[in-house]
Amino acid sequence: MSTNAPQPAASLPDRIRSASRRPRTLGGTVPGTVSLAMGEPDGDTPAAIVGAALHALRAGRTRYAPITGSPDLRREIASRLSQAQGHRFDAANVVVTHGGSAGLAAAVLALVGPGDRVLIPEPTYSLYADHVAMAGAEAVWISTRPDGSLDLAGLADAAPGARMLVLCNPVNPTGMVFSKSDVEGLGTILRDHPDLHLLSDEAYSDIVFDDIAFTSALTLAPVLDRVVLVGTFSKSYAMTGWRIGYVCASADVAERINLVHRTINGTMNTFVQDAALEALRIPESDLRTRAAGYQRRRDLVMRHLGGLDAVSVVRPRGAFYAFPRIDSPLSSEELAQRCADAGVLVRAGSEFGPSGEGHLRLSFATDEASLEEGLRRFADAVKAL
Ligand SMILES: Cc1ncc(COP(=O)(O)O)c(C=O)c1O
Repeated sequence: MSTNAPQPAASLPDRIRSASRRPRTLGGTVPGTVSLAMGEPDGDTPAAIVGAALHALRAGRTRYAPITGSPDLRREIASRLSQAQGHRFDAANVVVTHGGSAGLAAAVLALVGPGDRVLIPEPTYSLYADHVAMAGAEAVWISTRPDGSLDLAGLADAAPGARMLVLCNPVNPTGMVFSKSDVEGLGTILRDHPDLHLLSDEAYSDIVFDDIAFTSALTLAPVLDRVVLVGTFSKSYAMTGWRIGYVCASADVAERINLVHRTINGTMNTFVQDAALEALRIPESDLRTRAAGYQRRRDLVMRHLGGLDAVSVVRPRGAFYAFPRIDSPLSSEELAQRCADAGVLVRAGSEFGPSGEGHLRLSFATDEASLEEGLRRFADAVKAL
């Protein structure tokens, strides 16, 4: 038998399975445990949004929507982004997507091809590497520095020939919010490498703490034609189950992303888009109040973790996660199992990239009583190591 026979290409599910660091099952609860594992707001979707969806359903808004998303919603998203970022965007820059997840997938598949290199600062959200695997491309992990900031020199070294850089900002799982100079540093790298795109996942941009200013990648005016922003209604408006997000990019890139997105997803839900339009009418002050609620819980988490000798943690500045490092010879999966045995569910840090090993991710998007109880159980598990 010839040993030179071409090997069959790995199937798409096989490629994703071998690249994926994500747990096989997401969601659900285990009776008797406290879950600090999930990545979703604990509150309900605001009543005005639910009301808008009900109204739309009753008004017969149940047919196919336009293929790039509702024109009104695209215009309103563009106008919000224009106000926030000081650059003029219009509906042609916006694609409404099936959650941020489908926006990310469509952007990677539209811009990255087989064999391309994609730079991923990590620890980071685990889904990006799965999308890169789907595209048949290679994920190149670049660890962030110990204080959570970007390793701009490492990224610049790896940039020649790379096709895309995927940034999560604020960061799931560390809660890091990258500084203006870090974001501008990425702009310089893009300027120096004209084939490189920046995919900036800003799912948590409405959840930042300590009055710090959030710098969006959409401020990178000189290289904006190669910046793709992914946003979502999931986290800001407690709409994880509604499945609606968006992409903002140059009109040409948005069109390419839309082509991929519509081929996989078809059109978006008509009445969900009406509800999303209502979400955009919610005053900024309400979003700030929600963020302040997360900040109080961040402080609670820091007080609990600060009392544990074996634990070190960088103070989260956004999103709703803490990413403590545990001083232990156990792997992060084993540590997560010890926590589960103690009655608190957390996520293994290794899920979020190679430097997540030794860490655990705790979500504080849960009510304060459950959070206190979960943190007590977490402390018991750590002290018993
Ligand atoms: C960083 C980040 N981006 C995107 C998503 C996906 O959000 P969506 O519900 O909009 O698909 C998540 C969800 O956890 C996330 O943490």
